[in-house]
Amino acid sequence: MITVRSLTKHYGSNAVLRGIDLDVAAGEFLVILGPSGAGKSTLLRCMNGLVTPSSGELVAAGFDATDSRSVRKLRQQVAMIFQHHNVVPRLSVLKNVLTGRLGQVSTLSSILQLFSRHDLALAMDCLRRVGLDHKAGERTDALSGGQRQRVGIARALAQRPQIILADEPVASLDPKTSRLVLQYLRAACRELGITVVCNLHQVDYAREFGDRIVGLSGGKLVFDGRGDQLRESHLNLIYSGPEQAQEHCAATSRQSPPELVPIPDLAAQGALS
Ligand SMILES: Nc1ncnc2c1ncn2[C@@H]1O[C@H](COP(=O)(O)OP(=O)(O)OP(=O)(O)O)[C@@H](O)[C@H]1O
Ligand SMILES: [Mg+2]
Repeated sequence: MITVRSLTKHYGSNAVLRGIDLDVAAGEFLVILGPSGAGKSTLLRCMNGLVTPSSGELVAAGFDATDSRSVRKLRQQVAMIFQHHNVVPRLSVLKNVLTGRLGQVSTLSSILQLFSRHDLALAMDCLRRVGLDHKAGERTDALSGGQRQRVGIARALAQRPQIILADEPVASLDPKTSRLVLQYLRAACRELGITVVCNLHQVDYAREFGDRIVGLSGGKLVFDGRGDQLRESHLNLIYSGPEQAQEHCAATSRQSPPELVPIPDLAAQGALS
């Protein structure tokens, strides 16, 4: 679903991504771990064309993310969820979810904010998936932070994306709410076959929710494996800082790719219809 080859990104003399090679399988829940400044957000932003790489290749959902001509089509297939649940507080919960449809409907419908019965039914289904259908008519600013983040997930689902990119989606939530939000995200991945790439700072959640974890340090991948393969030594490597990571990187061969959890063909079972 996502192929990254020799990807680099420089901001002036600051080399933020330094030769990333990564494949993400369809339906996989991939967690990216790494210290602050490692380049996690930059990598995610490259995946939906928000950031243009300096060199290398990146294809997501069949679209070249490095080519500005295909970025609009790419973004129809790639939804984003941010740390600060980027919902519109004064709008109702349902309207927020419907905004996830805006990229898919015609420009005129989008300007007039006209939505079909199908869009409404879809938005309600997405709210049901995050347990918030009973809040559809409420103003979003009446919800808790965790609930708002679930609205953000519902909106991402309403987009019917092939990929969801989640940048620290639980950074400002308490542990119980964080796990709930990640459970809903994982359910989307499992039940709808959506590929999820999720930046996290919490190693425990990475182990619990990720089919696979990659460790990013100083703009390089220094770990690639399953949660149960992630040892203390790998964590030291990931969090030891760019200089050490760079040295270790040359000396440490990457882990062999993990066995992926088989994802049933949900499309074939009609779950996506
Ligand atoms: N638009 C930009 N212009 C210049 N430098 C940038 C820009 N965006 C990111 N950077 C730099 O790129 C580096 C990586 O930033 P990035 O936000 O990708 O890190 P991160 O791993 O997501 O960190 P955090 O865990 O704190 O979110 C940092 O040194 C940052 O200052
Ligand atoms: Mg970040």
